[in-house]
Amino acid sequence: MKEFNTTSAQVDTIEQRKHPKQLYLLFFTEMWERFSFYGMKALLLAYMVSQLKFDEPKGYSILGAYAALVYTTPMIGGYFADKFLGYRRAVMFGGVLMVIGHLVLAIPQGWSFFYGMAFIICGNGFFKPNISSLVGTLYEHNDPRKDSAFSLFYMGINIGAAMGGFLCGYVGQTYNWHYGFGLAGLFMILGLVVFAIGKKSLGQRGLPPNEEALRTPRFLFFTNEHLIYIGTFLVVPAVVALFHEYEVMDYIMFGLGGICLTYILFVAFNLQKVEREKLFAGIFMIIFSTLFWAFYEQNAGSLNLFAMRNVDMNVGGIQLPGLAINNFLPPGWVVVLSFFFAWLWPYLNKRKIEPSTPLKFAFSFILMGIGFYVFYLGCKNNTDTGLISLFNFVMGYFFIICGEMCLSPIGLSMVTKLSPIRMVSMVMGIWFFASAIGEFLAAKIGSLMSVPREIAEANKPELSLPYYASILSNIGLASIGVGVLMIVLVPLVRKWMHDVR
Ligand code: PHE
Repeated sequence: MKEFNTTSAQVDTIEQRKHPKQLYLLFFTEMWERFSFYGMKALLLAYMVSQLKFDEPKGYSILGAYAALVYTTPMIGGYFADKFLGYRRAVMFGGVLMVIGHLVLAIPQGWSFFYGMAFIICGNGFFKPNISSLVGTLYEHNDPRKDSAFSLFYMGINIGAAMGGFLCGYVGQTYNWHYGFGLAGLFMILGLVVFAIGKKSLGQRGLPPNEEALRTPRFLFFTNEHLIYIGTFLVVPAVVALFHEYEVMDYIMFGLGGICLTYILFVAFNLQKVEREKLFAGIFMIIFSTLFWAFYEQNAGSLNLFAMRNVDMNVGGIQLPGLAINNFLPPGWVVVLSFFFAWLWPYLNKRKIEPSTPLKFAFSFILMGIGFYVFYLGCKNNTDTGLISLFNFVMGYFFIICGEMCLSPIGLSMVTKLSPIRMVSMVMGIWFFASAIGEFLAAKIGSLMSVPREIAEANKPELSLPYYASILSNIGLASIGVGVLMIVLVPLVRKWMHDVR
């Protein structure tokens, strides 16, 4: 989220500031897609633990595998779109797979669970990176509106996530888990319909790079397009098999992580000094972003169960639905705080005191650490009842999301600025992949907060609270520590960044 910059050369008229109408098409498509994505994710762990009766460590492992794979596939989906399909077809195909995934999850049968997730994993790989790339195609490279377009888009993501997390969380926990999944599916259909109707207005944007080649049969009478679709459907059962053997995920994620890091370092060492150092700066921040997500994503894991068990959801005699509240709060705060940060950065910039990107990253850790510590203080002060106040919970998320605002919306624009032009998509894929590793680690950290079944079922908050308290405090302190370490390293990274801020 960078400021909407104007220089005297670019007179900022209302006309220039207006966004093309296609931005709203992408805004609403992504809003409804994120509604379903986060609506479903809200239910995942709680559904496994309370309905499927998985032990908590297993629940965390499956959640980790899902969340990791769902952000690993964008590397592949981005590649296929760049090379063959073009962004539009990729978004349509990804959207269809996601609809299938959500509807399969709505089927109340044992087999449906892993299949539903596998379809969503493949679908997100095609959908997520390419809808963002489509936003980029609406503007020339140096269009000053580009940053504000991405901020608006980020707002759409979070409006969808807030509504989805709340509604699906509420319906799933209160009525029936499968209705919750089904609701997510309905909104995914809505997103897809919006895109299908509106996509003509995109004109030439996001069409395949070589339409002719895409129509040429490559194998028997199958074209590359067919082969990509068929191949993807074949990947689905492979992903299901992975869920059954989820221990293998450790090797896959750390193996892939190692390969990516080695590869990008190798690439960097072969560049000229300035390009190399810029890429180093990018890699440095991508590595730290992994840790950020590892802490942050407790939201979709441990904090879901914590909210249901150990947060006092009673407001004036009304019992609020814990799962819904936990999934509404973070994106809800993003929407509110977006306005503040949209004002703050340009304000500081004008006074020449806007923090550099690495310093913002450092702040993001410190703020998030404070947020977790606020959760911990709630625990420490309520050991007798075992319930922390809703105020503590809301305020903890306030700080965590201030942290998110200093990192997540800035990350994408940082990637585009620090990587050599011809590598932007690849580094973008790695940025998503870093969050995949982060989500994977998040589930491992969450698993440290597993509550034994007898205690969870006894429904006594004072017994489950100790399982959370010390780990939440450790996350808080570790995060603040990482932030301080980053502050120390800022001068080095700034040097590497050369003219980029
Ligand atoms: N929450 C944002 C989204 O869903 C940003 C994000 C993307 C966070 C990918 C983590 C991983 O788009």
